Amino acid sequence: MKRILITGGAGFIGSAVVRQYIAETNVTVINVDKLSYCANLDSLGDALHHPRHRLERVDITDRRALERVFRVHRPQAVMHLAAESHVDRSIHGPEAFIHTNVTGTLTLLEVARAYWNELEGEDKTAFRFHHVSTDEVYGDLGPEEPPFTETTPYAPSSPYSASKAASDHLVRAWARTYGLPVVITNCSNNYGPCQFPEKLIPLMILNALDGKPLPLYGRGDNIRDWLYVEDHAHALRLVLSRGRAGETYNIGGRAERRNIDVVHAICDHLDHLQPRPDGQSHRTAIRFVDDRPGHDRRYAIDCSKIERELGWRPQESLDSGLEKTIRWYLDNPQWVERVRSGAYRQWLDLNYAERLAP
Ligand code: NAD
Ligand code: TYD
Repeated sequence: MKRILITGGAGFIGSAVVRQYIAETNVTVINVDKLSYCANLDSLGDALHHPRHRLERVDITDRRALERVFRVHRPQAVMHLAAESHVDRSIHGPEAFIHTNVTGTLTLLEVARAYWNELEGEDKTAFRFHHVSTDEVYGDLGPEEPPFTETTPYAPSSPYSASKAASDHLVRAWARTYGLPVVITNCSNNYGPCQFPEKLIPLMILNALDGKPLPLYGRGDNIRDWLYVEDHAHALRLVLSRGRAGETYNIGGRAERRNIDVVHAICDHLDHLQPRPDGQSHRTAIRFVDDRPGHDRRYAIDCSKIERELGWRPQESLDSGLEKTIRWYLDNPQWVERVRSGAYRQWLDLNYAERLAP
């Protein structure tokens, strides 16, 4: 494939995918992103001004704008990452999640379908619509239950995961009803460089560096399965090029941890890399705060299908990936300053002021 349209390519995972395509292949990337609060063009690094990178500042709910993008750039595949992506924000304001994740995916599917219908021969059979989704659509796992497989029934808990589940259903329906050649991936929690600091790992790193409290919801014993973002980006490229049309692939890091253990690991790395001025461990800043409503206890992914069929394996362990991530935040204060806009400060007030009140 020579021309791939990527939605959400200025976000955390999308920018990692774009950087890899530009650095490691000859693919031209058409990056469709509305540049919302969490997008950051700095995350694209050298890819931003590369001649094979075309940025289109477009909202995926804008059908006419999308039609123009497809007409002008003639993509051979779509990788769809654009989304509202943060559970806590979805609890404070669900509408934006339905708008982008459901209506936006519907709009993109319809424009892609009309475009694909006009293709012929090899262009038509080789075309792919790759929908990037999350393990959160499968809902809440008990401590002893086996990890999610591709056939685990959907049971989303939050407005975010419900909107992603709805978008997955639309994509499957477009494959079944209209024959659109789709692939779907459902991945576990990502972490790594360039993640907006409203998610657990970057929030904890930056709060610790600022000497602020480290707010753990509930008892800190909820479990997530963590994957380094570059490993996810490799998996996505592999699925797009070699995944079978109509199939779903789960992607995960085989790295289940309790939140408290993740935060302890961050504190321990920082105690070496950036000790607190008062000589105490960063662990002393941990605070247990009011839980998230509807908080899923555990996610775990069985990724044996992508391992078996496509030979994918993650390269980073959680420990090596965490250290790389922490070093990246320490080495990139200008990236951090850019995202600490007024909008970010408002978010900290909205989500944490009451939780952390004395
Ligand atoms: P992100 O929030 O960092 O980035 C999302 C990007 O989409 C941003 O650049 C934003 O500007 C863009 N966007 C939002 N609404 C848009 C719209 N209406 N039109 C065009 N662009 C729009 O998210 P992320 O963490 O990079 O996640 C990317 C995708 O991967 C999402 O679909 C998410 O559901 C999925 N996913 C994320 C994780 C994770 O741990 N972050 C795990 C599994 C799956
Ligand atoms: P998050 O990064 O928001 O990802 P998700 O909710 O999609 O899994 O949160 C990861 C875990 O960390 C989740 O169990 C909620 C918890 N968490 C906290 O304890 N404190 C926080 O301030 C945040 C943002 C998350």
